[in-house]
Amino acid sequence: MREQLNELVRQAESDILACQNPNDVMNVKAQYLGKKSLLNGLFARLRELPPEERPAFGNQINESRNRIEALLEAQSTKVKEAAWNTREGGKATDMSMPGITSSRGGFHPLTIIRREIDDVFLSMGFEIAEGPDIEDDFHNFDALNTPADHPSRNLADTFYLEDGSLLRSQTSTVQIRVMESYPPPIRIISPGRCYRNDKPDPSHSPVFHQVEALVVDKGISLADMTDTLSQFASIMFGANVGSRIRPHFFPFTEPSAEMDISCVVCGGAGCRVCKHSGWLEMGGAGMVDPNVFKTLGIDSEIYTGFAFGLGIERIAMLKYNIPDMRILFENDLRMLRQFKGESR
Ligand code: PHE
Repeated sequence: MREQLNELVRQAESDILACQNPNDVMNVKAQYLGKKSLLNGLFARLRELPPEERPAFGNQINESRNRIEALLEAQSTKVKEAAWNTREGGKATDMSMPGITSSRGGFHPLTIIRREIDDVFLSMGFEIAEGPDIEDDFHNFDALNTPADHPSRNLADTFYLEDGSLLRSQTSTVQIRVMESYPPPIRIISPGRCYRNDKPDPSHSPVFHQVEALVVDKGISLADMTDTLSQFASIMFGANVGSRIRPHFFPFTEPSAEMDISCVVCGGAGCRVCKHSGWLEMGGAGMVDPNVFKTLGIDSEIYTGFAFGLGIERIAMLKYNIPDMRILFENDLRMLRQFKGESR
C-alpha cells in the first residue's frame, strides 16, 4: 500500500505538470482529490493495516494529499499566467485589475456663464457675432466716434502693438464690424475678450470679458433697450430682480446710460456686495449715436438702434459668489474643481 501511495504521488506530479490550461488542472484535481479518487480509496483501505500502523500511514496519505494540492495550486497559477501572457501581443493582462479611470474635465466658470448668457439672448432672437482680439484704431475708436484726444486712447490705458494695431479695449468693435458687413435689421450679441492696461485688483484685470449687444432696425427706442435689459436680468438672476438705467456718457451712444440690476444678494435692501446702494452695476448702454451710423453709411433718419456691453466676470462673480476677480484667472484647481459637475 505504501508503494501504491508513492506511485500515486509520482503519477499525480507528472499529470499536474502536464496540465496546459485551467481546465486540465480541474480535471486532474478531480481525478486525484475527488470523492472517487485513488487517494480516498486508500483512506478506506486503512482498515486493512494492523492498528499500530494506521496512524502513521494515515498521516502519510494526508501529507500526500497536501502535496498534490500545493502542486495543483502552483500549476493553476502558472497556466493562468501563461494564458494572460499570450493575449495582447504578449503583455500580461490581469483581467481582475481595476481599469484606468480618466478624470472628467469641467468648464471654467466664465465659460459656463458665457454660454448661459448666449442662451438667454439666443432665446430672444439674437445671433452671435465675433470679431478679432487684435484690432485697429478705426474699429476700436474712430468708427466709435471716439476723438483722437479721448483719454481711453492713451498708451497708458490701451495695449498697442509695435505695428500700430491694438488689443481691443471693448467688444464694441464688433458693432462696427457687423454694421460694416450687414444691412439692418441687426440683432446680435458678441461675447469676447477685452484688454486694458489696468492693475489687477478685486474688480479689475488686464484681460476680461464683455458681451456686446446691438440692435438696429426701424423704430428701435430706448424702451426696447430697457426692456431687453430687464428681460435679461430676470432670466439670468431670477424673476424678482429689477433693473434701471442711469445717465452716463459714451462717445458712440446718445443718450448713454449705465445699467444696474437690483442687488441679487440683499434684494435691494442694501448690503456689503452692493455697497448699501441696493443696486449692482452691469455695464454701459445707449442709443447708437447718429455719427456712428454716418461713418458706416446707415441712414439715421430711417434706422435707430441700441447697444450695451455687459461684464462677464461681474456676472460670474455675482452668480457664484466669487469675491475677487483675480480668482477667475489664477486657475487654482481647488476652485475649478467646484465647477466640474456643471455641463453648460
Ligand atoms: N464698450 C463700453 C465699455 O466698455 C460699454 C458700452 C457698450 C457702452 C455698448 C455703450 C454701448 O465701457
